[in-house]
Amino acid sequence: MGKKLIIGSSGQIGTELILALAKIYGEDQIIATDINPKAKDEIDGILFHQMDVLDVDHLESVVKENQVSEIYLLAALLSAVSEQKIRSAWDLNMNGLFNVLELARRGVIERVFWPSSIAVFGPSSPKKNTPQNAILEPTTVYGISKCAGERWCDYYFKKFGVDVRSIRYPGIISYKSKPGGGTTDYAVEIFHEALANSKYTCFIDQDIYLPMMYMDDAIRATIELMSVDKGMLPAFKSYNVSAESFSPSEIAKEITQFIPDFKITYSPDFRNDIALSWPSSINDDEARQDWGWQEQYDIKKMTEKMISGINSNLNVISS
Ligand code: SER
Repeated sequence: MGKKLIIGSSGQIGTELILALAKIYGEDQIIATDINPKAKDEIDGILFHQMDVLDVDHLESVVKENQVSEIYLLAALLSAVSEQKIRSAWDLNMNGLFNVLELARRGVIERVFWPSSIAVFGPSSPKKNTPQNAILEPTTVYGISKCAGERWCDYYFKKFGVDVRSIRYPGIISYKSKPGGGTTDYAVEIFHEALANSKYTCFIDQDIYLPMMYMDDAIRATIELMSVDKGMLPAFKSYNVSAESFSPSEIAKEITQFIPDFKITYSPDFRNDIALSWPSSINDDEARQDWGWQEQYDIKKMTEKMISGINSNLNVISS
């Protein structure tokens, strides 16, 4: 096995995935890349290249020069930003994937991780406990790109034997890195605002449930799926993975256990419509059966970790 390349290293998942992979495989086995040159400052001890995944020649030279065999393609525009930048979202979310799949087809790399999302589902999918093979008729730009991306991964898997693996991430919640431009971002912002100001104005309505997951579970799911023997995955599936599902009012209630004077108000914007088009919970039986997925965090355990994690970061800043 060669080295592991992370594209989009300064994003919410990239920031933490790099550290987790470096811990398992060694810092010298990980190469970080991001379009933002400042991303370099965030990672000690890991080789960084500033790179745009749409620059296919640069991508290939970074891969070859560093003996990369595995790519984690995390560069994408998320759901809220994609609605504002339709063409750029399609371009980055599709052509970035295409460039990486082509490297795999030509045998330059051996394995690809590409994240999909609960956004592949739309209003015509079952709302609760949405199954792996539910109808996919997304009504968002982001969802359309993820849905098409899944089809391309399946095509490259079947037609060319490309070893591409994928997870439909729910909203990811973490205190070490902030999300950027998603609909589920409220579930991270709420913790920061609760600790800083004891109040939060939420951009989605109080009773909209969405599938969510604490970052440690998301990172573990990614690494576990990428570590499974190829023979164990006879078909391409972008796996549903489930951990928790909650609404803004429910997470606010959990937060008041720690911050009793915390107050939430609601001012829904366009992201409310995006949230309404997505499932409220998803069924992940296939991930459990095929590669043993099992979550470790529920809403209570996650809330404790978020509050203590953000608090300790604030203490480090103020001391
Ligand atoms: N967290 C993503 C978003 O809100 C969904 O996969 O865009």
